[in-house]
Amino acid sequence: MELGKALFNIAALADLGEEITSEKNFQEKLHSLLHVVLGTFLASRGAVTCQDRSGDTMAFVARRGFDDLSPAAIDLGRIRSAGKNEPFLNADDAALAAAGVEVVTPLWVRDEFIGTILLGRKFTAEPYSREDFELLRVISHQVAITLNNHALFLNLSEQLNDNRKLYEEMRRIYHDTLQAFAAAIDAKDMYTRHHSQRVARYASAIARELGWSDHDIEGIYVAGFLHDVGKLVISNELLNKKTPFTEEEKAEIRRHSLVSYKIISQIKFPWKDVEKIIKHHHERLDGTGYPDALSRDDLSEGAKILTLADSFDAMTSERAYRRKMDLRSALIEMNSCLNLQFDDKIMLAFCRVLDKEIKGELPEPDILPHLGRESDLTVISAMLEGLIEELSGQKDGG
Ligand SMILES: [Fe+2]
Ligand SMILES: [Fe+2]
Repeated sequence: MELGKALFNIAALADLGEEITSEKNFQEKLHSLLHVVLGTFLASRGAVTCQDRSGDTMAFVARRGFDDLSPAAIDLGRIRSAGKNEPFLNADDAALAAAGVEVVTPLWVRDEFIGTILLGRKFTAEPYSREDFELLRVISHQVAITLNNHALFLNLSEQLNDNRKLYEEMRRIYHDTLQAFAAAIDAKDMYTRHHSQRVARYASAIARELGWSDHDIEGIYVAGFLHDVGKLVISNELLNKKTPFTEEEKAEIRRHSLVSYKIISQIKFPWKDVEKIIKHHHERLDGTGYPDALSRDDLSEGAKILTLADSFDAMTSERAYRRKMDLRSALIEMNSCLNLQFDDKIMLAFCRVLDKEIKGELPEPDILPHLGRESDLTVISAMLEGLIEELSGQKDGG
């Protein structure tokens, strides 16, 4: 997929380089990364250290707690000999243990040892699980790349003749960042693992079917990844509650789309209206959605696509308060919400792309692989054909 052409020119690259090389931005970025990590694992203390290029010692680049820990006291040999970006429980290092470091993750980019992420015990005093370690591994790649990226951009002037390569690297970093962010969002709610990723893929598949340009498709893909970022401010307890929500709790959860909007509007994206699409992912055509109670004509096509993709994933995933629906029931449910919640044009595109995937007409299916085993795909396909006919008006129009 093509990333924004605006980023392709040197001026934009230089601007971005300036932003990324700025010491304040870098510190801020690492601090927010560290806070995402701490929040994700409910750890009380944590730090990111960076390899001092002049020698064999480390320096702290972001930390919360571990005030008594001197980087010089850390045994780097042990950390270097552990797996690249593989978290491990600290057992041997007395200095780390005395400071309260429970988990150490060595950060590597290719063959270069860059630094570490150190984490203290959890607030809940529970041990770190295998799943925690898996997620930490994904995040550690991101932190490693950010640290490395900082160094890369410091050398920007030397690399201007190699912009293309640098740009490719940046694009990869960007996508890794999105992945790590989405993982952090989805990890908040035990029932919504990979939700953001699926919504991103469903939404971009629909946009492609509607004939959107590659650039715009990438924009809605990013919107899908980040639409629920506002959930980071809602308590885990509330998100994972198994009993019905009170009115107050509903209002608290509904806050997330506006919070997502506020966070995302701080970021300058090369795509148009990402923040508005995100803001309106819980709006409805009949004007009963939130936060702005907009109706059909006020909603952009992007917002309508994201709403449908988000709801479809909610229906076909297990949730704390209900079982997942099979594909057939989800389609019936969506059809019954046409013109109230979903736009028929978007529904038509969704049915078309899903039918093409079932018939094997698309080389890289975006929807079907996420749906688990659906036994009666021929029945579904027949049902989709009926819906497509109905929605495209062929039935009545002859
Ligand atoms: Fe949402
Ligand atoms: Fe969502």
